[in-house]
Amino acid sequence: MWSAALALLVAGGAVAWILMPGGDRADPTDAAQVTLGKAVYVQHCASCHGTNLEGQPDWQLRKPDGKMPAPPHDQKGTR
Ligand code: HEC
Repeated sequence: MWSAALALLVAGGAVAWILMPGGDRADPTDAAQVTLGKAVYVQHCASCHGTNLEGQPDWQLRKPDGKMPAPPHDQKGTR
């Protein structure tokens, strides 16, 4: 759960940073930021990276078109 919240924060961090002008760096202990990051993730990232950060099936295998599938955003996604 903690890692999922952290991953969501990282995923939404860039956008959250823009949405909070003058704001500091993303803070995983700040519940408001985590909530914002989750909303941003669900709206803009979950379609490819998965509602539960799971990524796309066989994400490590290049697709026939030469592109890579979306990787998971949990620990499994680290290459
Ligand atoms: C249209 C589908 C799609 C959406 C929407 C999308 N991604 Fe991705 N993302 C991908 C794909 C595909 C890759 C892998 C690209 C590659 O390896 O060539 C990727 C890679 C990444 C990576 C790099 C992971 C790594 O280990 O190299 C990060 C970080 C990432 N996305 C974050 C995000 C965030 C944050 C959002 C939402 C703001 C988002 N993505 C939305 C498809 C998407």
